[in-house]
Amino acid sequence: MRNSQIPVATLSDDSASPDRQLSFLTPEDFEVAWDLGLFYLKTPDELDLESVRQFGKELIAPDCPYRQVPQYGELEGFITLENNQQTKLALRRERWGQHYPANIAAFGRQLDTIGVAIIREVFHQSGIPEALWDRASEGYASGGGDAFLNFVHYDTRTPDWGLRPHTDYGFVTILDTSAPGLQIEMNGEFQDVPVLPGHLIINFGEALNFITAHSDRLVSAVTHRVVSQQSSDPVRHGIVYFANPDLDGMLWQFNAAGEEQGNSKVQDLFAQLESRLTETR
Ligand SMILES: [Fe+2]
Repeated sequence: MRNSQIPVATLSDDSASPDRQLSFLTPEDFEVAWDLGLFYLKTPDELDLESVRQFGKELIAPDCPYRQVPQYGELEGFITLENNQQTKLALRRERWGQHYPANIAAFGRQLDTIGVAIIREVFHQSGIPEALWDRASEGYASGGGDAFLNFVHYDTRTPDWGLRPHTDYGFVTILDTSAPGLQIEMNGEFQDVPVLPGHLIINFGEALNFITAHSDRLVSAVTHRVVSQQSSDPVRHGIVYFANPDLDGMLWQFNAAGEEQGNSKVQDLFAQLESRLTETR
């Protein structure tokens, strides 16, 4: 079962190459993906998703040692949120080696290369000169920048929202999920994004929308939410990777001639999104 309005992309097999190519079946599919801010990506062959999913599932066991990972600020560590269904283990790239087992840290670095391939395609289509990609993405386009690898669990037996409607603040989000529940806003209505076996779900965030706003090809940041849906396993497991700008950094807007068109502190963009969330609560 698939929502036929959501396009499907593939990545070329040269996983170690900086020129790894993202491609869609038709030019129209590409246009839809960029306008929607979301698409399916055929799971690249190099990913051993099963073992990573297994790691994720084991995290909710009461005696799981990873529950002891300390919290770092509001965004990292083993976190149980009381106001929604979520339990998660969230860590940014700098801490993967310290807290994740080696295969999970390596998986995170594989997702880094996928995120880089996607953001480079966004920049390529935007017409922004390649010499500026690093500055525009705070180093993410060349393998630096900020990234999170998170394992999230939604207990669908609780009646709350899984996740209220929002846009992601970063560049690119890569999602693997075990069950339905994700919905996106399409033509003013929320519509299901079904699990498509063998595929990851990719969506774009506000930072990328901001950066490309004055370029030849803007990308949309998709509004999405997670709702309770019936499924055989009452817990919905997700593996989520976020390619993000550094929260203390700056975002720059360039046009295709390489001229600066504007800028924003990441914090300011983030604060705007937070206040919008508060308003719709
Ligand atoms: Fe999100």
